[in-house]
Amino acid sequence: MKIAVPKERRPHERRVAVSPDTVKKLSGLGFDVVVETGAGEAAAMPDRLFSDAGATIAPDAASAYADADVVFKIQRPLRAGEGEIDELALIGRGAYLIASLAPYQDMEGLQAYASAGVNAMAMELMPRITRAQSMDILSSQNNLAGYKAAIEAANHYNRAMPMMMTAAGTVAPAKVMIFGAGVAGLQAVATAKRMGGIVTATDVRPATKEQVESLGGKFLMVEDEESKQAETAAGYAKEMSDEYKAKQAKLIADTIAKQDIAITTALIPGRPAPKLISEDMVKSMKPGSVIFDLAAETGGNCELTVPGEVAVRHDVTIIGYFNVPSRVPVDASNLFAKNLLNFITPHVKDGALSFDWEDETVAGILLTRDGQVVHPQFSGTGA
Ligand code: NAI
Repeated sequence: MKIAVPKERRPHERRVAVSPDTVKKLSGLGFDVVVETGAGEAAAMPDRLFSDAGATIAPDAASAYADADVVFKIQRPLRAGEGEIDELALIGRGAYLIASLAPYQDMEGLQAYASAGVNAMAMELMPRITRAQSMDILSSQNNLAGYKAAIEAANHYNRAMPMMMTAAGTVAPAKVMIFGAGVAGLQAVATAKRMGGIVTATDVRPATKEQVESLGGKFLMVEDEESKQAETAAGYAKEMSDEYKAKQAKLIADTIAKQDIAITTALIPGRPAPKLISEDMVKSMKPGSVIFDLAAETGGNCELTVPGEVAVRHDVTIIGYFNVPSRVPVDASNLFAKNLLNFITPHVKDGALSFDWEDETVAGILLTRDGQVVHPQFSGTGA
């Protein structure tokens, strides 16, 4: 069985969906792994590392995709009119496309996969169950995004992070506030703390209090009857009521003016990111403060974020980079590749791939099968 690993063609993507380590393991399971030339270049994985690990290097996209049973990708394939080539047209009917497919943002894609007869699996829909932790791309990638956000914010902050007592005077430690204490937020807490910042974090899920405090951060949130129900069975946050949002806005307004750096990571699956930092709040921050908005791709947590850009508004630098995991491409690729390997391994028997359709890790991420949109969240939506 052939696994194709094409070069990523969407803008700003530096990751690759296999690593030399996973190529070895996939070959050991009986797969022929074919990597398009240059696929790992931006992640410090030149072709020779893949060929030494047992992969075949394909000279172009067409030969990489040709006759593949499985396609491993980071991002969804380009479709006609989206870029230099129509990658979806190169995937054969009946092949499995396993990648981050952004189904909520790209419902048209679902119909396109169904029409192409491609069995599409969206890894970001992996259920949050203990057994699936090692397959969870949101965790592996957002952890690195939280780390990188803290590093980049510190880099744009034209002062030192830790307190320094010197003969010439004392440098005050940076005050850092993290919005959303999920996977990315907790790593941002840990990283900012290690850099010497004084860290506060907030969330709507009370369970995060203990996690923030265990990392040495101070926790702050509006606790009321509604926040007790803020977590869904899947472990995600719900959209809060207008009344809760007003109380939360007051708490943030009272706190943010004293902060030097804000890192925002608050997301609600399938919904626009909640707006937590208003223009007035930005105005209240000191000149030279920094906001890193990790939610920029889904609209941003800050009203003034310019998605994809670094903007200075009211003397505050607001960073809205897209695809932050791709800014740590080596580790991000290694971990993504491991997530894919861990997902597929239990379904390989005697060198052949045979998915257990009842398995919740399969049913939870399967968007299309045999020409139909089959995922319960998307079938019947016209997707
Ligand atoms: P996420 O990326 O969807 O959201 C980030 C954070 O923003 C969350 O903590 C959320 O509560 C918070 N948030 C949402 N709306 C907010 C608002 N209006 N104000 C402030 N904060 C807000 O969440 P993420 O990081 O993907 O994970 C959520 C939780 O899922 C984790 O903390 C963990 O407990 C659980 N999890 C379980 C896994 C497993 O068992 N396989 C794997 C990964 C995470």
